[in-house]
Amino acid sequence: MQNALYTSATIVELLPMCVGSPIYKITLSPHSPLQHWSAGQFIMLDFGSSHLCSFARPFSIASIGSSTVTLYIHIRGKETKHLRTLSRGDVLHMWGPLGNSFSPPTKETLLIAGGIGIAPFVTYTNQYRTPLTFLFGHRIDEENYPLNECSTMTTCRTFHDNNSSSLQVFLDEIRATMLQYKQGQVLACGPLPLLRYIRNLAIELDIYAELSLEETMFCGVGACLGCVCKTTDSYSDSRYSDSYVQSCTAGPIFVAHNILI
Ligand SMILES: Cc1cc2nc3c(=O)[nH]c(=O)nc-3n(C[C@H](O)[C@H](O)[C@H](O)COP(=O)(O)OP(=O)(O)OC[C@H]3O[C@@H](n4cnc5c(N)ncnc54)[C@H](O)[C@@H]3O)c2cc1C
Ligand code: FES
Repeated sequence: MQNALYTSATIVELLPMCVGSPIYKITLSPHSPLQHWSAGQFIMLDFGSSHLCSFARPFSIASIGSSTVTLYIHIRGKETKHLRTLSRGDVLHMWGPLGNSFSPPTKETLLIAGGIGIAPFVTYTNQYRTPLTFLFGHRIDEENYPLNECSTMTTCRTFHDNNSSSLQVFLDEIRATMLQYKQGQVLACGPLPLLRYIRNLAIELDIYAELSLEETMFCGVGACLGCVCKTTDSYSDSRYSDSYVQSCTAGPIFVAHNILI
């Protein structure tokens, strides 16, 4: 929060990842530059829709250049659908960088993502540029995702989990690979059922894991209580006296043993 900034930002690039893709790469040029950010942090982006009750939405920072910030956005509903009406030169509003970040790869690190959960790992692999293993599960074709934007030092294994048997292959691979990281760390981002599976494995196998929660957020700064999640007794942060914490300010990244999801 210390370095978070509210700013207007001009769209300098807005492209679907492939023909007909529901995922867009958007590059913005903030009118005030974002500083001091790290992989795992996010921004709140207001699409500028004119209807009443419009809300900004949270998106992982996929990269920050000297004067730009890039995001990968999967069009889901009310707000993200406005992406299709925007074009180069339009001005939006955003604030960030927000939230905490993933631990650096000071020990053997396994990355796991599902779908658009890949976004923070584009930053992570390029920020640290060290050999990393990355397990990536996706329901729609691989060409929709920024896999080739991850650092070339990353060994990426992809799983097209578009039915229950292929999903099981992905889940089995996660278990088998996590077993090799008992002395290391697992960093994960993706849909809640995937994160829940990884959390349960981390507890069962006693492996250190960090999970980036994609809770619904409205303000991103701890004010609306729209994003609370429940922590366990092992969670400790002097800023919070209750077991319910705001995932925008306490997270979005939590140690698996410390949260109930
Ligand atoms: C810290 C953080 C980082 C995120 N980073 C990214 C990112 O880099 N790229 C990206 O595309 N999205 C990301 N998300 C998710 C993104 O914020 C939501 O997809 C977005 O808010 C949906 O807004 P909407 O108004 O279009 O959808 P809504 O109208 O609010 O919802 C439409 C439908 O989408 C479903 N939905 C809403 N949120 C999610 C979600 N998180 N996952 C799956 N389904 C959802 C709803 O249940 C509903 O069915 C992130 C979320 C968080 C908290
Ligand atoms: S999004 Fe408002 S408190 Fe977290």
